[in-house]
Amino acid sequence: MRKLIAGNWKMNGLSADLGAIEAIASAVAGHSGVDTALCLPATLVGPAATRLPGYAIGGQDCHMAVSGAHTGCVSAAMLADAGAKLTIVGHSERRAAQGESDADVRGKASAARAAGLNAIVCVGETEAERDAGQAESVVLGQLQGSLPDDANGSWLSVAYEPVWAIGTGRIPSIDDVTAMHDAIRNALVARFGEGGAAIRILYGGSMNGDNAAVLLTVANVDGGLIGGASLSAEKFLPIVEAAAAA
Ligand code: 13P
Repeated sequence: MRKLIAGNWKMNGLSADLGAIEAIASAVAGHSGVDTALCLPATLVGPAATRLPGYAIGGQDCHMAVSGAHTGCVSAAMLADAGAKLTIVGHSERRAAQGESDADVRGKASAARAAGLNAIVCVGETEAERDAGQAESVVLGQLQGSLPDDANGSWLSVAYEPVWAIGTGRIPSIDDVTAMHDAIRNALVARFGEGGAAIRILYGGSMNGDNAAVLLTVANVDGGLIGGASLSAEKFLPIVEAAAAA
């Protein structure tokens, strides 16, 4: 399966950073065997997509409705209209801070699909849940509730992001990554058959140029969702190179 390395810029980036975005896109352009994307703040999607018409610029969230009285929200159609090709939905930071439920995330993924966007659907356990031995049941429950019935690898990827590994410099043991990605794969195949076998399962949480080679050679790790290390070409490129070599 072709690997996908997607950057999540979170709430970072002003128009002054469009040059850095262009630098990342041109740095990764030589690695044609790997898919890459940059999920930007909504304000930068249009300007970045205009400058980089062939590149996969994405959003970080979308509303489940097409339009309406939702002050401050952005619809999937708006992201597509601005030039986005994909969007993240269900990131743990939104699940926690905006109280998004699995049903919300499922609606957002469907809205993305309806607008012609690819979706990266995030799941992941907290540290307390892992310590209580509930990591797999929590993640598989989120997966079941967050994926629409028409999920398949042509438009949807799953990102496993342990909450405690995000922005902390800590990653799970390789055994734990292997076990979780295998469990997610089994659940996807059980529900979606061949379509589930083709869904990419990304790992996210403190992935960087030092640990990417090991993480990306684990079975069923089909790419990465990268936060901090996606903010510059210097940090992002080594991860893409590791994906190309994996
Ligand atoms: P970091 O790579 O900064 O840990 O962030 C991971 C993440 O949340 C990507 O969505």
